[in-house]
Amino acid sequence: EKDKELIRVSWESLGKNKVPHGVIMFSRLFELEPALLNLFHYNTNCGTTEDCLSSPEFLDHVTKVMLVIDAAVSHLDNLHTLEDFLLNLGKKHQAVGVNTQSFVVVGESLLYMLQCSLGQGYTAPLRQAWLNMYTIVVAAMSRGWAK
Ligand code: HEM
Repeated sequence: EKDKELIRVSWESLGKNKVPHGVIMFSRLFELEPALLNLFHYNTNCGTTEDCLSSPEFLDHVTKVMLVIDAAVSHLDNLHTLEDFLLNLGKKHQAVGVNTQSFVVVGESLLYMLQCSLGQGYTAPLRQAWLNMYTIVVAAMSRGWAK
């Protein structure tokens, strides 16, 4: 319905430029929670946001995140089909030391990126529509954390 339309239309342009938008999102994430830098152990160690952003593996991860968002946007009518994939993705993140609480901050960073990129287009209903979709994705990922 209306929510799905808001998400699809706003993602149309953002999804074409995944890396720059993902970089805005992760720069914000590290500003809000710098300790997350320590979870990226690549050849070029992520000591600072700048180190991280110059690491090709990190930029690959940014692309991976954007592709998951892209998949969610494409599956808005049947998000449940992504459940197993997202549960396994959650397990991988537990294994690398991510805490489910950090996904709250990731969500804030996603909204920040949308606000930066959409300008006037970033409205209260749009924000809520994205938050609803993100909450479903994160709930599915969080099921991957062994209790
Ligand atoms: C893999 C960290 C959030 C999607 C990884 C890896 C690390 C990592 C260290 C393994 C190395 C790599 O593939 O680059 C983090 C941290 C996050 C975060 C610290 C923030 C708290 C997310 C989110 C998504 C995501 C929100 C998507 C919604 C992926 C994907 C992979 C991955 C698709 C590859 C999994 C595979 O190899 O099958 N992440 N991640 N990550 N991450 Fe994240």
